[in-house]
Amino acid sequence: MMVKKKAKTTFYCSSCGHQSPKWLGKCPSCESWNTFVEEREATDEPVTFPELASLNKGSHPKSLAEIKNTPPIQGQTKIAEFDRVLGGGIVPGAVTLVGGDPGIGKSTLLLEVLANLSANGQKTMYVTGEESPGQVKLRSERLQIDAPTLYLLAATEVGTIISHSLELKPKALVIDSIQTVTAPESTSPPGSVSQIRQATAHLINLAKTTGIPLFLIGHVTKEGAIAGPRILEHMVDTVLYFESGTQHPYRILRAVKNRFGSTNEIGVFEMTGSGLQGVDSPSHIFLAERPADLAGSLVTATMEGTRPILTEIQALVSGSTMAGIPRRTTLGIDKGRASLMIAVLEKRLNLLLGDKDIFLNVIGGLKIIEPAIDLGLMGAILSSYLDKAIPATTLLLGEVGLAGEIRRVNFLEQRLNEAQKFGFTRAIIPKNNLASADKVTISVAEIDNITELPAILFPKEN
Ligand SMILES: Nc1ncnc2c1ncn2[C@@H]1O[C@H](COP(=O)(O)OP(=O)(O)OP(=O)(O)O)[C@@H](O)[C@H]1O
Ligand SMILES: [Mg+2]
Repeated sequence: MMVKKKAKTTFYCSSCGHQSPKWLGKCPSCESWNTFVEEREATDEPVTFPELASLNKGSHPKSLAEIKNTPPIQGQTKIAEFDRVLGGGIVPGAVTLVGGDPGIGKSTLLLEVLANLSANGQKTMYVTGEESPGQVKLRSERLQIDAPTLYLLAATEVGTIISHSLELKPKALVIDSIQTVTAPESTSPPGSVSQIRQATAHLINLAKTTGIPLFLIGHVTKEGAIAGPRILEHMVDTVLYFESGTQHPYRILRAVKNRFGSTNEIGVFEMTGSGLQGVDSPSHIFLAERPADLAGSLVTATMEGTRPILTEIQALVSGSTMAGIPRRTTLGIDKGRASLMIAVLEKRLNLLLGDKDIFLNVIGGLKIIEPAIDLGLMGAILSSYLDKAIPATTLLLGEVGLAGEIRRVNFLEQRLNEAQKFGFTRAIIPKNNLASADKVTISVAEIDNITELPAILFPKEN
Protein backbone atom coordinates (compact mmCIF):
# COMPACT_ATOMS: atom_id res chain seq x y z
CA MET A 1 0.00 0.00 0.00
CA MET A 2 1.07 3.61 -0.49
CA VAL A 3 1.45 6.13 2.28
CA LYS A 4 0.48 9.61 1.11
CA LYS A 5 2.86 12.44 1.96
CA LYS A 6 1.81 15.91 2.93
CA ALA A 7 3.82 18.93 4.00
CA LYS A 8 3.67 20.06 7.62
CA THR A 9 5.27 22.88 9.55
CA THR A 10 7.06 22.00 12.73
CA PHE A 11 9.11 24.11 15.12
CA TYR A 12 12.37 22.76 16.50
CA CYS A 13 14.59 24.01 19.27
CA SER A 14 17.94 24.57 17.56
CA SER A 15 19.72 23.85 20.79
CA CYS A 16 18.28 20.52 21.91
CA GLY A 17 15.99 19.44 19.07
CA HIS A 18 12.72 19.63 21.04
CA GLN A 19 9.77 19.56 18.66
CA SER A 20 6.64 21.65 18.93
CA PRO A 21 3.66 22.34 16.63
CA LYS A 22 3.85 26.06 17.43
CA TRP A 23 6.55 28.63 18.05
CA LEU A 24 7.70 28.96 21.64
CA GLY A 25 9.84 31.67 23.19
CA LYS A 26 11.41 29.39 25.75
CA CYS A 27 12.21 25.74 25.15
CA PRO A 28 10.40 23.59 27.74
CA SER A 29 13.10 20.93 27.43
CA CYS A 30 16.44 22.74 27.64
CA GLU A 31 15.08 26.11 28.82
CA SER A 32 16.97 28.17 26.21
CA TRP A 33 15.34 31.33 24.91
CA ASN A 34 14.62 32.21 21.27
CA THR A 35 15.93 28.96 19.88
CA PHE A 36 12.82 27.78 18.00
CA VAL A 37 13.09 27.66 14.23
CA GLU A 38 10.37 26.81 11.73
CA GLU A 39 10.91 23.88 9.41
CA ARG A 40 8.67 22.36 6.77
CA GLU A 41 8.66 18.63 6.67
CA ALA A 42 6.99 16.02 4.54
CA THR A 43 5.12 13.79 6.94
CA ASP A 44 3.29 10.55 6.56
CA GLU A 45 -0.43 10.33 7.10
CA PRO A 46 -1.40 8.20 10.09
CA VAL A 47 -1.29 4.49 9.35
CA THR A 48 -3.82 2.15 10.95
CA PHE A 49 -2.60 -0.79 13.00
CA PRO A 50 -3.55 -3.57 10.49
CA GLU A 51 -1.92 -1.56 7.69
CA LEU A 52 1.38 -1.55 9.59
CA ALA A 53 1.89 -5.29 9.13
CA SER A 54 1.61 -4.93 5.37
CA LEU A 55 4.55 -2.50 5.47
CA ASN A 56 7.00 -5.30 6.35
CA LYS A 57 10.10 -4.66 4.25
CA GLY A 58 11.25 -8.28 4.43
CA SER A 59 13.81 -8.48 7.21
CA HIS A 60 13.74 -11.67 9.26
CA PRO A 61 14.69 -12.46 12.83
CA LYS A 62 17.98 -14.34 13.13
CA SER A 63 19.22 -16.39 16.04
CA LEU A 64 22.26 -15.07 17.87
CA ALA A 65 24.24 -18.10 16.64
CA GLU A 66 23.53 -17.26 13.00
CA ILE A 67 24.93 -13.75 13.24
CA LYS A 68 28.57 -13.25 12.37
CA ASN A 69 30.32 -10.90 14.74
CA THR A 70 32.48 -8.04 13.59
CA PRO A 71 35.34 -7.65 16.02
CA PRO A 72 37.10 -4.29 16.35
CA ILE A 73 40.20 -3.76 14.26
CA GLN A 74 42.60 -3.57 17.17
CA GLY A 75 45.04 -0.72 17.28
CA GLN A 76 44.69 -0.02 13.63
CA THR A 77 44.86 3.76 13.61
CA LYS A 78 48.35 3.50 15.13
CA ILE A 79 47.38 6.49 17.25
CA ALA A 80 47.37 4.77 20.62
CA GLU A 81 45.49 7.58 22.39
CA PHE A 82 42.72 7.50 19.77
CA ASP A 83 42.37 3.70 19.81
CA ARG A 84 42.18 3.74 23.58
CA VAL A 85 39.26 6.18 23.64
CA LEU A 86 37.45 4.14 20.99
CA GLY A 87 37.73 1.07 23.22
CA GLY A 88 40.55 -0.76 21.45
CA GLY A 89 40.13 0.18 17.82
CA ILE A 90 37.68 0.93 15.06
CA VAL A 91 34.65 -1.34 14.76
CA PRO A 92 33.46 -2.02 11.19
CA GLY A 93 30.31 -0.04 10.39
CA ALA A 94 30.58 2.02 13.57
CA VAL A 95 29.50 5.65 13.43
CA THR A 96 31.54 8.03 15.58
CA LEU A 97 30.67 11.67 16.18
CA VAL A 98 33.63 13.89 17.08
CA GLY A 99 32.76 17.28 18.57
CA GLY A 100 34.94 20.12 19.74
CA ASP A 101 35.49 23.88 19.82
CA PRO A 102 36.56 25.68 16.64
CA GLY A 103 40.27 25.23 15.95
CA ILE A 104 40.80 22.57 18.60
CA GLY A 105 42.19 20.15 15.99
CA LYS A 106 39.27 17.94 14.86
CA SER A 107 40.21 18.07 11.18
CA THR A 108 43.87 17.51 12.02
CA LEU A 109 43.14 14.47 14.18
CA LEU A 110 40.88 12.75 11.67
CA LEU A 111 43.16 13.48 8.74
CA GLU A 112 45.96 11.79 10.67
CA VAL A 113 43.68 8.85 11.47
CA LEU A 114 42.80 8.40 7.79
CA ALA A 115 46.43 8.74 6.74
CA ASN A 116 47.39 5.93 9.11
CA LEU A 117 44.49 3.79 7.94
CA SER A 118 45.50 4.24 4.30
CA ALA A 119 48.97 2.84 4.86
CA ASN A 120 49.56 -0.34 2.81
CA GLY A 121 47.58 1.04 -0.11
CA GLN A 122 44.14 0.88 1.55
CA LYS A 123 41.66 3.44 0.27
CA THR A 124 40.11 5.99 2.62
CA MET A 125 37.96 9.03 1.89
CA TYR A 126 37.83 12.46 3.52
CA VAL A 127 34.73 14.49 2.62
CA THR A 128 35.30 18.19 3.08
CA GLY A 129 32.36 20.56 3.10
CA GLU A 130 34.08 23.44 4.86
CA GLU A 131 37.52 23.68 3.34
CA SER A 132 38.63 23.32 -0.26
CA PRO A 133 40.67 20.24 -1.19
CA GLY A 134 43.61 22.63 -1.61
CA GLN A 135 43.36 23.69 2.04
CA VAL A 136 43.19 20.08 3.19
CA LYS A 137 46.20 19.29 0.99
CA LEU A 138 48.10 22.15 2.67
CA ARG A 139 47.31 20.69 6.07
CA SER A 140 48.42 17.24 4.93
CA GLU A 141 51.76 18.73 3.84
CA ARG A 142 52.21 20.38 7.21
CA LEU A 143 51.49 17.03 8.86
CA GLN A 144 53.92 15.35 6.45
CA ILE A 145 51.26 12.93 5.32
CA ASP A 146 52.24 10.73 2.42
CA ALA A 147 49.14 8.72 1.61
CA PRO A 148 48.47 8.29 -2.13
CA THR A 149 45.29 6.29 -1.43
CA LEU A 150 43.66 8.92 0.76
CA TYR A 151 40.93 10.47 -1.38
CA LEU A 152 39.46 13.94 -0.87
CA LEU A 153 35.91 14.74 -1.89
CA ALA A 154 34.57 18.27 -1.80
CA ALA A 155 30.84 17.70 -1.45
CA THR A 156 27.93 18.65 0.73
CA GLU A 157 25.10 16.64 -0.87
CA VAL A 158 24.49 13.36 0.92
CA GLY A 159 23.67 11.54 -2.35
CA THR A 160 27.04 12.51 -3.85
CA ILE A 161 28.84 11.29 -0.74
CA ILE A 162 26.97 7.98 -0.73
CA SER A 163 27.44 7.31 -4.43
CA HIS A 164 31.21 7.93 -4.26
CA SER A 165 31.51 5.83 -1.11
CA LEU A 166 29.77 2.89 -2.77
CA GLU A 167 32.05 3.24 -5.77
CA LEU A 168 35.35 3.74 -3.93
CA LYS A 169 34.60 1.36 -1.02
CA PRO A 170 36.93 3.19 1.37
CA LYS A 171 38.22 1.50 4.50
CA ALA A 172 37.08 4.51 6.52
CA LEU A 173 35.09 7.63 5.78
CA VAL A 174 35.34 11.07 7.43
CA ILE A 175 32.71 13.80 7.00
CA ASP A 176 33.99 17.29 7.86
CA SER A 177 31.54 18.51 9.05
CA ILE A 178 28.07 16.98 9.45
CA GLN A 179 26.58 20.51 9.66
CA THR A 180 27.44 21.11 5.98
CA VAL A 181 25.74 17.99 4.62
CA THR A 182 22.29 18.32 3.05
CA ALA A 183 19.63 15.71 2.40
CA PRO A 184 17.39 15.92 -0.71
CA GLU A 185 14.08 15.50 1.14
CA SER A 186 14.63 18.42 3.45
CA THR A 187 13.85 21.93 2.30
CA SER A 188 15.33 23.62 5.37
CA PRO A 189 18.67 25.46 5.13
CA PRO A 190 21.94 23.51 5.59
CA GLY A 191 22.85 23.07 9.22
CA SER A 192 19.23 23.08 10.36
CA VAL A 193 17.89 20.41 12.66
CA SER A 194 15.99 18.39 10.07
CA GLN A 195 18.83 18.58 7.50
CA ILE A 196 21.35 17.25 9.98
CA ARG A 197 19.03 14.55 11.20
CA GLN A 198 18.08 13.29 7.77
CA ALA A 199 21.61 13.47 6.35
CA THR A 200 22.91 11.60 9.40
CA ALA A 201 20.26 8.92 9.03
CA HIS A 202 21.34 8.31 5.40
CA LEU A 203 25.02 8.20 6.33
CA ILE A 204 24.37 5.80 9.21
CA ASN A 205 22.50 3.61 6.77
CA LEU A 206 25.54 3.66 4.49
CA ALA A 207 27.86 2.64 7.33
CA LYS A 208 25.58 -0.14 8.57
CA THR A 209 24.93 -1.67 5.15
CA THR A 210 28.52 -1.49 3.84
CA GLY A 211 30.46 -1.88 7.10
CA ILE A 212 32.51 1.24 6.35
CA PRO A 213 33.44 2.93 9.65
CA LEU A 214 32.19 6.50 9.58
CA PHE A 215 33.50 9.55 11.45
CA LEU A 216 31.32 12.65 11.62
CA ILE A 217 32.91 15.91 12.72
CA GLY A 218 30.45 18.14 14.56
CA HIS A 219 30.61 21.75 15.68
CA VAL A 220 29.81 22.59 19.25
CA THR A 221 27.57 25.42 20.34
CA LYS A 222 28.75 28.02 22.79
CA GLU A 223 27.16 26.00 25.57
CA GLY A 224 29.53 23.17 24.63
CA ALA A 225 27.04 20.67 23.18
CA ILE A 226 27.30 19.33 19.65
CA ALA A 227 25.30 21.68 17.44
CA GLY A 228 22.15 20.25 15.97
CA PRO A 229 19.63 18.07 17.65
CA ARG A 230 20.58 16.14 20.73
CA ILE A 231 19.06 13.21 18.89
CA LEU A 232 22.30 13.03 16.85
CA GLU A 233 24.06 11.72 19.93
CA HIS A 234 21.45 8.96 20.24
CA MET A 235 21.71 7.97 16.59
CA VAL A 236 25.47 7.36 16.49
CA ASP A 237 27.44 4.59 18.20
CA THR A 238 30.14 6.69 19.78
CA VAL A 239 30.36 10.34 20.78
CA LEU A 240 33.80 11.84 21.38
CA TYR A 241 34.58 15.34 22.59
CA PHE A 242 37.88 16.96 21.84
CA GLU A 243 38.63 19.62 24.44
CA SER A 244 41.59 21.53 25.70
CA GLY A 245 42.76 21.45 29.27
CA THR A 246 43.73 24.70 30.90
CA GLN A 247 47.33 23.97 30.03
CA HIS A 248 47.84 24.63 26.38
CA PRO A 249 48.89 23.12 24.05
CA TYR A 250 47.40 19.92 25.47
CA ARG A 251 44.16 18.48 24.16
CA ILE A 252 42.00 15.85 25.79
CA LEU A 253 39.84 13.43 23.80
CA ARG A 254 37.00 12.04 25.87
CA ALA A 255 34.25 9.53 25.07
CA VAL A 256 30.85 10.59 26.41
CA LYS A 257 29.09 7.64 24.83
CA ASN A 258 30.55 4.43 23.45
CA ARG A 259 28.57 1.38 22.38
CA PHE A 260 31.82 -0.60 22.07
CA GLY A 261 33.87 0.40 25.07
CA SER A 262 34.25 2.26 28.32
CA THR A 263 33.55 5.97 28.49
CA ASN A 264 36.11 6.48 31.22
CA GLU A 265 39.11 6.50 28.93
CA ILE A 266 40.77 9.73 27.90
CA GLY A 267 43.34 10.37 25.21
CA VAL A 268 45.85 13.15 25.74
CA PHE A 269 47.45 14.92 22.78
CA GLU A 270 49.85 17.77 22.30
CA MET A 271 49.35 20.12 19.33
CA THR A 272 52.68 20.66 17.60
CA GLY A 273 53.72 22.25 14.31
CA SER A 274 53.71 18.84 12.66
CA GLY A 275 50.35 17.74 14.04
CA LEU A 276 48.93 16.10 17.12
CA GLN A 277 51.28 13.94 19.16
CA GLY A 278 49.90 11.41 21.61
CA VAL A 279 51.13 11.95 25.17
CA ASP A 280 52.00 8.51 26.59
CA SER A 281 52.50 9.66 30.10
CA PRO A 282 49.95 12.35 31.04
CA SER A 283 51.27 12.44 34.62
CA HIS A 284 54.16 14.50 33.23
CA ILE A 285 51.74 17.27 32.29
CA PHE A 286 49.89 17.32 35.54
CA LEU A 287 53.06 17.37 37.63
CA ALA A 288 55.19 19.54 35.34
CA GLU A 289 55.23 22.81 37.25
CA ARG A 290 54.88 21.42 40.72
CA PRO A 291 56.59 23.48 43.41
CA ALA A 292 58.74 21.38 45.74
CA ASP A 293 57.97 21.30 49.45
CA LEU A 294 55.13 23.79 49.48
CA ALA A 295 52.59 23.66 52.28
CA GLY A 296 49.13 22.77 50.97
CA SER A 297 50.27 20.91 47.86
CA LEU A 298 50.40 17.16 47.45
CA VAL A 299 50.00 14.47 44.84
CA THR A 300 47.44 11.74 44.50
CA ALA A 301 46.81 9.16 41.80
CA THR A 302 43.46 9.14 40.08
CA MET A 303 42.17 6.57 37.58
CA GLU A 304 40.94 7.71 34.18
CA GLY A 305 39.48 4.48 32.87
CA THR A 306 42.23 1.91 33.13
CA ARG A 307 45.03 4.45 33.31
CA PRO A 308 46.41 5.98 36.49
CA ILE A 309 47.25 9.68 36.32
CA LEU A 310 49.18 11.49 39.01
CA THR A 311 47.66 14.84 39.83
CA GLU A 312 48.53 17.63 42.16
CA ILE A 313 45.94 18.87 44.65
CA GLN A 314 46.36 22.26 46.26
CA ALA A 315 44.68 23.65 49.34
CA LEU A 316 44.84 27.14 50.73
CA VAL A 317 43.49 27.72 54.24
CA SER A 318 43.49 31.36 55.24
CA GLY A 319 41.83 33.59 57.83
CA SER A 320 38.32 34.49 56.67
CA THR A 321 37.86 38.01 55.36
CA MET A 322 34.16 37.99 56.15
CA ALA A 323 33.25 37.31 59.73
CA GLY A 324 30.88 34.38 60.11
CA ILE A 325 30.78 33.40 56.45
CA PRO A 326 33.84 31.32 55.58
CA ARG A 327 34.36 30.80 51.85
CA ARG A 328 34.69 27.33 50.34
CA THR A 329 35.89 27.44 46.75
CA THR A 330 36.71 24.29 44.78
CA LEU A 331 38.03 23.78 41.26
CA GLY A 332 37.95 20.26 39.82
CA ILE A 333 36.50 18.79 43.02
CA ASP A 334 32.86 18.43 43.99
CA LYS A 335 31.91 21.12 46.49
CA GLY A 336 29.70 18.81 48.55
CA ARG A 337 32.50 16.30 48.90
CA ALA A 338 34.91 19.04 49.95
CA SER A 339 32.49 20.29 52.66
CA LEU A 340 32.18 16.74 53.93
CA MET A 341 35.95 16.34 54.19
CA ILE A 342 36.25 19.70 55.96
CA ALA A 343 33.56 18.67 58.47
CA VAL A 344 35.34 15.37 59.18
CA LEU A 345 38.64 17.22 59.73
CA GLU A 346 36.95 19.63 62.19
CA LYS A 347 35.26 16.84 64.11
CA ARG A 348 37.98 14.16 64.19
CA LEU A 349 41.14 16.26 64.30
CA ASN A 350 39.63 19.22 66.17
CA LEU A 351 40.84 21.66 63.51
CA LEU A 352 39.28 25.12 63.79
CA LEU A 353 38.17 25.70 60.23
CA GLY A 354 34.94 27.59 60.92
CA ASP A 355 36.61 30.98 60.65
CA LYS A 356 38.85 30.06 57.72
CA ASP A 357 38.42 30.46 53.97
CA ILE A 358 39.36 27.24 52.17
CA PHE A 359 40.30 27.03 48.51
CA LEU A 360 40.85 23.69 46.79
CA ASN A 361 42.24 23.18 43.32
CA VAL A 362 43.15 20.28 41.05
CA ILE A 363 46.03 21.28 38.78
CA GLY A 364 45.77 20.86 35.03
CA GLY A 365 42.03 21.35 34.64
CA LEU A 366 41.15 17.75 35.51
CA LYS A 367 37.85 17.07 37.23
CA ILE A 368 38.09 14.31 39.78
CA ILE A 369 34.96 12.60 41.00
CA GLU A 370 36.33 9.42 42.51
CA PRO A 371 36.48 9.21 46.33
CA ALA A 372 40.03 7.78 46.28
CA ILE A 373 41.35 11.33 46.49
CA ASP A 374 39.65 12.04 49.85
CA LEU A 375 42.77 11.39 51.88
CA GLY A 376 44.83 13.55 49.52
CA LEU A 377 42.31 16.35 49.89
CA MET A 378 42.45 16.16 53.67
CA GLY A 379 46.24 15.97 53.66
CA ALA A 380 46.42 19.12 51.55
CA ILE A 381 44.05 21.01 53.87
CA LEU A 382 45.94 19.82 56.96
CA SER A 383 49.28 20.78 55.40
CA SER A 384 48.09 24.29 54.58
CA TYR A 385 46.38 24.70 57.98
CA LEU A 386 49.55 23.73 59.84
CA ASP A 387 51.72 25.51 57.25
CA LYS A 388 53.93 22.44 57.03
CA ALA A 389 55.01 21.03 53.70
CA ILE A 390 54.55 17.36 52.88
CA PRO A 391 57.67 15.89 51.17
CA ALA A 392 57.31 16.16 47.39
CA THR A 393 57.84 12.42 46.94
CA THR A 394 54.94 11.34 49.20
CA LEU A 395 51.66 10.16 47.71
CA LEU A 396 48.29 9.92 49.52
CA LEU A 397 45.47 7.56 48.57
CA GLY A 398 42.25 6.56 50.29
CA GLU A 399 38.53 7.19 50.65
CA VAL A 400 37.47 8.75 53.97
CA GLY A 401 34.17 7.98 55.70
CA LEU A 402 32.24 10.22 58.09
CA ALA A 403 33.72 8.51 61.14
CA GLY A 404 37.16 9.33 59.83
CA GLU A 405 37.79 5.73 58.80
CA ILE A 406 39.98 5.22 55.75
CA ARG A 407 38.44 2.95 53.14
CA ARG A 408 40.09 0.96 50.41
CA VAL A 409 40.57 2.13 46.85
CA ASN A 410 40.56 0.03 43.70
CA PHE A 411 43.50 -0.38 41.28
CA LEU A 412 45.90 0.41 44.13
CA GLU A 413 48.83 -1.41 42.54
CA GLN A 414 48.48 0.42 39.23
CA ARG A 415 48.39 3.75 41.04
CA LEU A 416 51.46 2.92 43.12
CA ASN A 417 53.38 1.69 40.08
CA GLU A 418 52.68 4.95 38.27
CA ALA A 419 53.94 6.90 41.31
CA GLN A 420 57.05 4.76 41.41
CA LYS A 421 57.76 5.57 37.76
CA PHE A 422 57.76 9.25 38.69
CA GLY A 423 60.18 8.88 41.55
CA PHE A 424 57.79 8.82 44.50
CA THR A 425 59.31 7.04 47.47
CA ARG A 426 56.54 6.89 50.05
CA ALA A 427 52.80 6.21 49.82
CA ILE A 428 50.18 6.55 52.53
CA ILE A 429 47.47 4.01 51.77
CA PRO A 430 44.41 2.44 53.46
CA LYS A 431 45.07 -0.41 55.87
CA ASN A 432 44.97 -3.92 54.36
CA ASN A 433 44.43 -2.50 50.89
CA LEU A 434 47.57 -3.91 49.31
CA ALA A 435 47.09 -7.59 48.41
CA SER A 436 50.75 -8.38 47.82
CA ALA A 437 53.31 -5.87 48.95
CA ASP A 438 56.12 -7.49 46.95
CA LYS A 439 54.73 -6.13 43.67
CA VAL A 440 55.62 -2.55 44.64
CA THR A 441 58.97 -1.25 45.74
CA ILE A 442 57.69 2.11 47.01
CA SER A 443 57.61 2.27 50.81
CA VAL A 444 54.06 2.23 52.14
CA ALA A 445 52.55 3.50 55.39
CA GLU A 446 49.11 2.12 56.22
CA ILE A 447 46.46 4.30 57.81
CA ASP A 448 43.27 3.15 59.49
CA ASN A 449 41.71 6.40 60.69
CA ILE A 450 42.15 10.06 59.85
CA THR A 451 43.24 10.72 63.46
CA GLU A 452 46.55 9.01 62.59
CA LEU A 453 47.26 11.35 59.65
CA PRO A 454 49.19 14.15 61.44
CA ALA A 455 51.59 11.64 63.02
CA ILE A 456 52.14 9.80 59.73
CA LEU A 457 52.65 12.98 57.69
CA PHE A 458 54.77 14.93 60.16
CA PRO A 459 56.46 12.27 62.31
CA LYS A 460 59.12 14.40 64.03
CA GLU A 461 56.84 16.94 65.60
CA ASN A 462 54.52 14.38 67.12
N1 LIG B 1 51.87 25.58 11.88
C1 LIG B 1 51.23 25.23 12.97
N2 LIG B 1 51.89 24.97 14.10
C2 LIG B 1 51.27 24.58 15.21
N3 LIG B 1 49.96 24.43 15.30
C3 LIG B 1 49.22 24.68 14.22
C4 LIG B 1 49.82 25.09 13.00
N4 LIG B 1 48.81 25.24 12.10
C5 LIG B 1 47.66 24.96 12.75
N5 LIG B 1 47.90 24.61 14.01
C6 LIG B 1 46.92 24.22 15.03
O1 LIG B 1 45.87 23.52 14.45
C7 LIG B 1 44.64 24.07 14.89
C8 LIG B 1 43.61 23.95 13.80
O2 LIG B 1 43.30 22.59 13.70
P1 LIG B 1 42.04 22.07 12.89
O3 LIG B 1 41.86 22.86 11.64
O4 LIG B 1 42.24 20.61 12.79
O5 LIG B 1 40.88 22.40 13.90
P2 LIG B 1 39.33 22.10 13.75
O6 LIG B 1 38.90 21.60 15.09
O7 LIG B 1 39.08 21.24 12.58
O8 LIG B 1 38.75 23.55 13.54
P3 LIG B 1 37.38 23.99 12.79
O9 LIG B 1 36.29 23.77 13.79
O10 LIG B 1 37.60 25.43 12.53
O11 LIG B 1 37.25 23.17 11.57
C9 LIG B 1 44.96 25.52 15.18
O12 LIG B 1 44.10 26.05 16.15
C10 LIG B 1 46.36 25.44 15.71
O13 LIG B 1 46.32 25.20 17.09
MG1 LIG C 1 38.02 21.60 10.78
